[in-house]
Amino acid sequence: MNIIRRKGWEIRESQATPESVFLDRRALMRGAAFAGAGSLLPGLSSLAMAQADPTAAMYPARRNELYKLDRDLTPEATASHYNNFYEFGLSKNVFSAAESLKTRPWMVKIDGLVEKARDVGIDDLLKAMPLEERLYRHRCVEAWSMTVPWTGFPLKALVDFAKPLSSAKFIRFETFLDPKMAPGQRSFFPWPYVEALTMAEAVNDMSLMVTGAYGKPLGKTFGAPLRLHTPWKYGFKHIKSLTKISFVEKRPETFWETAGPGEYGFWANVNPQVPHPRWSQATEEVLGTGNRRPTLLFNGYGEFVADLYKGLEKEKLYI
Ligand code: MTE
Repeated sequence: MNIIRRKGWEIRESQATPESVFLDRRALMRGAAFAGAGSLLPGLSSLAMAQADPTAAMYPARRNELYKLDRDLTPEATASHYNNFYEFGLSKNVFSAAESLKTRPWMVKIDGLVEKARDVGIDDLLKAMPLEERLYRHRCVEAWSMTVPWTGFPLKALVDFAKPLSSAKFIRFETFLDPKMAPGQRSFFPWPYVEALTMAEAVNDMSLMVTGAYGKPLGKTFGAPLRLHTPWKYGFKHIKSLTKISFVEKRPETFWETAGPGEYGFWANVNPQVPHPRWSQATEEVLGTGNRRPTLLFNGYGEFVADLYKGLEKEKLYI
């Protein structure tokens, strides 16, 4: 668990994706489609390249201003070069290795306690979901943090789409399993990566299914094409490159509960007063700044989520 100290390029929140840029870019994309040949428009070559992703024209999405930041955004170059994606290696430097992740075609299986199980292609799913941008903090259990403009849709929208039965109490998420493509999956860990939430957590407005970052489709190192973000929980809950979403009655055992019982639990809510067995959680290294700052209960999002845990005080809510 190494913590790096990098002096950063710092950009401000206002640089994430201003609405003017969003509107201009949408207009430009419409123009390109109308012209029928993007390369005829000046300065469009990078946009044309981005269109290799069939959903590229959906970005940037309009920002949801409800979730405010208390700090600057992490520059994209920093956030995308300090990652945990064990399928592609144990170091933080998995950017190049993750390029071998093949993200199309990409099917997501929705099954378990639902009216009707189904397989849906990621591009069809995106067309059915309301995309928005949110600026969220991310606190890794390793005591570093970053702040990213994610794009995605509320997990609640996916729950509505899936039509779960009333007997469903938890959602279980699973990452792809393909050791040929992802060499890390040949290692001793209990693959595939699995995570889970209670239904109450899943339908809380903060739970976001992420499909983009920094105003464009999600980079592979961030877990393209679909990952989870629950910013009041430690980052290991934010499972990447999802292929299966199951509605279940019993609490699933997660990847990290199996790999490190006693160190990582199901709830994993951020709490500076509950140390990890091997290190303190009181402060965090803010990526790209060289600074530490105090960690906040529920990562500062208590007003939105603390009620979820009323009556659950006997649970190990913070590991
Ligand atoms: N999802 C999968 N499938 N594999 C992983 O190794 N690492 C987790 C989480 N999701 C991980 C994963 C951990 S420990 C963290 S902190 C975050 O992803 C890191 O997200 P980032 O690389 O976008 O910063």
